[in-house]
Amino acid sequence: MLSLPLHLATLATFAIAAPSLESRQSSQLITVDTTQKFQKVDGFGFSAAFQRANLVVNLAQPKQSEVLNLLYNTTHGAGFSIVRNGIGSSVDSRNDWMNSILPVCPSSPSGTPNYVWDGKDSGQLWLSQKAVEFGVKTFYANAWSAPGCMKTNGNDANGGSLCGVSGATCASGDWKQAYANYLVKYIQLYIQSGVPITHVAFLNEPDLTTSYASMRSSGTQAADFIKVLRPTLDRNNLTSVGINCCEGTGWNIASQHAREIASAGALGSIYAITSHEYTSRINGPLSTRARAWQTEYSDLDGRWSTAWYSNGGAGDGFTWANTVFNGMVNANLSAYIFWEGIQDRATNNNNNEKLILIDGQNYFVSKRLWAFAQFRIVRPGAVRVAASSSSSSQLKSGAFVNTDGSVAVVAINSGTAAQTVGVKLGAETLGDRVVKAWYTDNSKDMGEVQAAISSDGTTASVSVPGRAMVSFLVK
Ligand SMILES: *[C@@H]1O[C@H](CO)[C@@H](O)[C@H](O)[C@H]1NC(C)=O
Ligand SMILES: *[C@@H]1O[C@H](CO)[C@@H](O)[C@H](O)[C@H]1NC(C)=O
Ligand SMILES: *[C@@H]1O[C@H](CO)[C@@H](O)[C@H](O)[C@H]1NC(C)=O
Repeated sequence: MLSLPLHLATLATFAIAAPSLESRQSSQLITVDTTQKFQKVDGFGFSAAFQRANLVVNLAQPKQSEVLNLLYNTTHGAGFSIVRNGIGSSVDSRNDWMNSILPVCPSSPSGTPNYVWDGKDSGQLWLSQKAVEFGVKTFYANAWSAPGCMKTNGNDANGGSLCGVSGATCASGDWKQAYANYLVKYIQLYIQSGVPITHVAFLNEPDLTTSYASMRSSGTQAADFIKVLRPTLDRNNLTSVGINCCEGTGWNIASQHAREIASAGALGSIYAITSHEYTSRINGPLSTRARAWQTEYSDLDGRWSTAWYSNGGAGDGFTWANTVFNGMVNANLSAYIFWEGIQDRATNNNNNEKLILIDGQNYFVSKRLWAFAQFRIVRPGAVRVAASSSSSSQLKSGAFVNTDGSVAVVAINSGTAAQTVGVKLGAETLGDRVVKAWYTDNSKDMGEVQAAISSDGTTASVSVPGRAMVSFLVK
């Protein structure tokens, strides 16, 4: 199908253009109501945990800068606004483990810990410092496990629980306070290195035991620790650091965590309930007063793919456009974080766990990254507002008001044919506003298209190819 945006732009009032090709396209109107407000947005992000950050550290210029721009640039890349770092718990950096700042514990919980800071944190510190340079303000530090010496199984891998939470007693004593102090130390080391950690989590997939760093916990056990961590952060002048919990493997588990933390009286001490989407997908808003973040998901099975649309597969960019849209628009998420931003070819079976494949000194960009880029106009602090399209089965739409007053509209053409998509902010005249629009499909990556303004000045329209995602920014 021919793409028509340039031609369209030359028409002053395309709506009345008589027998043109455009007028034969079906058209959809998105009506935004900025007075109807929903959740606040914290942002979109990725992780470079398990030493993947080093892949960028080790890239030569100019490719290193190119990859950094793809990740962080808000006008030419994905414009990610959240970096999720793994807090290492392993005794060393064998395999792809993340090493801990406390490789050896004191002999008792009240002993003086001997912290060891290598100034690298598996490459994550450098990648975070670069994010700061691009203006990123949200840094999410997430431990997969406590150091092994604080756990029932004496190992940071293979499950086990934190000594001292309900149902987990250890001969060596109660390590809750020591673990809270350790997390504070990690946050302080980052702050001293110019990276303000804004959110912290102390569990990852606590419903799963793995051969790498993993620690079991229920929501009730998590609440036991939250009651120690919150005052410890506050005592250390870290009141603004939010606690997130609990990174369950799926949305059903997250509901359970939310319920248990609330009944244990700890919900007021946390910032967001966090969930992954592996074992159950997001199917509507979580029932909780806290914010909700989706903090890790990817296609772990498919072969490496850079397609926008091939067959609707789990790694397709178009699939990801719909996945992120579903979380933000249908489930009131405040953040959507992909799994690995970058990964090499050798580890992890050459699959779609990553947005960018780094292979030695070369890199390859998937369309999944461009699906996230379509959301880059929704900046941290935005509030989602009501949006409806004439036919939601043909065109999905969502809208957000940014803190600078600009309105960001995201839409997905679910049909296979091109459609004319118009945006209207109630009866407001767009006269003094600047309207920009971009779309991604098999051929374009956030390709800018000129919007045509209707003769009455209320509607900005572009032609959008079949199965494309389009974003409008009305400033
Ligand atoms: C983003 O990319 C554009 C185009 O390459 C460049 O001009 C701009 O400086 C970049 N922004 C930052 C913050 O580096
Ligand atoms: C507490 O943190 C704030 C920033 O959040 C900083 O400006 C202030 O200097 C800190 N105070 C102390 C005593 O560390
Ligand atoms: C989530 O959004 C829906 C509308 O999309 C709204 O009805 C509901 O109140 C919101 N829920 C929360 C918890 O914000």
